[in-house]
Amino acid sequence: MTTIAHLTDLHLLEADHDRRRGAERWRLRYLSFGRPIDAAERRGRALAALVEARRSGADHLVLTGDLTEDGAPAQFEVLAAVLAESGWAPEHVTLVPGNHDAYAGGDAWERALGGPLRPFAATSGPGTTVALPGAVVTAVSTAIMQPVTRSAGAIAARELAQVAALAAETRRSGNALVLAQHHPPLRHPIGAWHWLDGLINCAELMALLHEHDHLHVIHGHTHRENDAPVRAGAPPRIFCAQALVDGHTPLRFYRVRHGRLLSETTHVRSGASNFATA
Ligand SMILES: [Fe+2]
Ligand SMILES: [Fe+2]
Repeated sequence: MTTIAHLTDLHLLEADHDRRRGAERWRLRYLSFGRPIDAAERRGRALAALVEARRSGADHLVLTGDLTEDGAPAQFEVLAAVLAESGWAPEHVTLVPGNHDAYAGGDAWERALGGPLRPFAATSGPGTTVALPGAVVTAVSTAIMQPVTRSAGAIAARELAQVAALAAETRRSGNALVLAQHHPPLRHPIGAWHWLDGLINCAELMALLHEHDHLHVIHGHTHRENDAPVRAGAPPRIFCAQALVDGHTPLRFYRVRHGRLLSETTHVRSGASNFATA
């Protein structure tokens, strides 16, 4: 049976961030507000969780954004090094960017995929797909250029059209279609908050989720574990995990069965949480 492992919101830092000056220093302090700026601790947590995910025997891993704290090139190098050290083969990993990965520049993700993350470009570039037994995973970018005071996301129209086409195609095949993305597709009840922090064109994506019962979303951004249905009372098809940067049990697993994704908790799979140290 196909199993997908999920980790999100690593918020990795470069080891020498103390050497930053001026606006870049201020940006890091602003974005890390409320979290210790400890590069080694964050790297250690990420490595432990990635190794645990690999040892679980999961078929595929998705990392759903905010991989770095502000998208600085050196932080993507840390991510590449941690992934290499964890032993995950790049063809079994889907990475997507979050809002934090774009604060250093709108092209930061593209440059990372052409640089230190090049081994992951075939599975993690916008619109790329990975075919697993019973499921197709596709990388969806919600990262947009914006000031650090805003944390919204949006899916480019071209990418949304690709998702719609892929949904129609996979529906006929009977496979589950899994969108790996950073922002949740659900609208925040407070309009101003949604503009500030939500997925701006979530209505289009929700329309696709209503149209296709085999369509699922694995996301991050909220830093809280959550399973949500598309329709009230229906099985969940929208899944989020705790943030790896500060969650106690950030590793999640999903099983693929009959064109559906079923969530599994860490303690069910491994007997006990291995991520209880902060
Ligand atoms: Fe985050
Ligand atoms: Fe985020």
